[in-house]
Amino acid sequence: MNITITDQLARRLIEAGGEAVSGQQFADEFGISRTAVWKHIRELQSRGYDIHSVKKKGYILSGVPDSLKPEVIQPGLDTRYIGRRIDYHETVVSTQIIAHQLAQEGAPGGTAVLAESQSAGRGRLARPWDSAFGKGIWMSVILRPDVPPQKAPQFTLVTAVAVVRAIEETTGLRPEIKWPNDILLNGRKCTGILTELQADMDRIHALIIGIGLNVNQERGDFAEEVQGIASSLRIGKGEAVSRQDLIRSIFRHLERYTELYISQGFTPLKSLWEGYSVTLGKRIRASSPREVLEGLAMGITPDGVLELKTDDGKIHQIYSADIELASD
Ligand code: BTN
Repeated sequence: MNITITDQLARRLIEAGGEAVSGQQFADEFGISRTAVWKHIRELQSRGYDIHSVKKKGYILSGVPDSLKPEVIQPGLDTRYIGRRIDYHETVVSTQIIAHQLAQEGAPGGTAVLAESQSAGRGRLARPWDSAFGKGIWMSVILRPDVPPQKAPQFTLVTAVAVVRAIEETTGLRPEIKWPNDILLNGRKCTGILTELQADMDRIHALIIGIGLNVNQERGDFAEEVQGIASSLRIGKGEAVSRQDLIRSIFRHLERYTELYISQGFTPLKSLWEGYSVTLGKRIRASSPREVLEGLAMGITPDGVLELKTDDGKIHQIYSADIELASD
């Protein structure tokens, strides 16, 4: 990944946190002339950076474009490894596909693939995932935890907790989780998580965690058939939400909860997850290609499997299904 001088200059201005940086300082740091500095500044302005120059002081940045480029996301990011490498694209088929390739080529754990839009974003059970340009967070994060493949589904729940916490921190909204991977706002889905695996029988090589988060769509941006079931943070909050703040917060929470999981196992994450669950204690219908079961959602097992009690008193373990709240 080539970082241009223009990008480095942008990063340096963001890191200056609103303080002026003189043209001479830039010229010395990057080994270029002051005229060249000015040309890079003009280029940044044309990309939507709000930069003005103050006589005898230098250049001051007072606004960044609504972009997910690494030079905008990484300054101020305080993680150890998640988001330290960002593979950014304007448009891709699916960030999952790119992340799988990068993982196979040996990309380090924490690598994140971000796109402004996807032409064929995919959801669970090969369903399409609508990924409109610039409206959401469409990303895939590569993790390389040293755990057996049976533990992979737990990472969907770990990720759900991290994303919910990040949404709370960034917007003050109070989302809920529908087992296993949907995050809801006022009962409507705003986020989906898709965990895929590269593994052999006893070891995970890479987890590819896909996160699709509807951020700034308005109701009319959604296709008519999903308007009643989909939502976005903007709809929930009544104003636009910064995708940049949200991504940094997701990276931080994902790293923190992954570390908690590695050091203390699933138990503390299970309690956190239960605190946000909209499913537990409710009467639900669980539909899988094999059967449809209706009953009470009792809880999740230490492995993250959903336990459902049908009216005949039998307890069923649900590994994968679509869940709806059932009317009594
Ligand atoms: C679901 O709820 O079915 C999961 C949706 C996951 C969508 C995300 S968007 C980023 C990543 N790339 C994809 O193609 N899918 C995931």
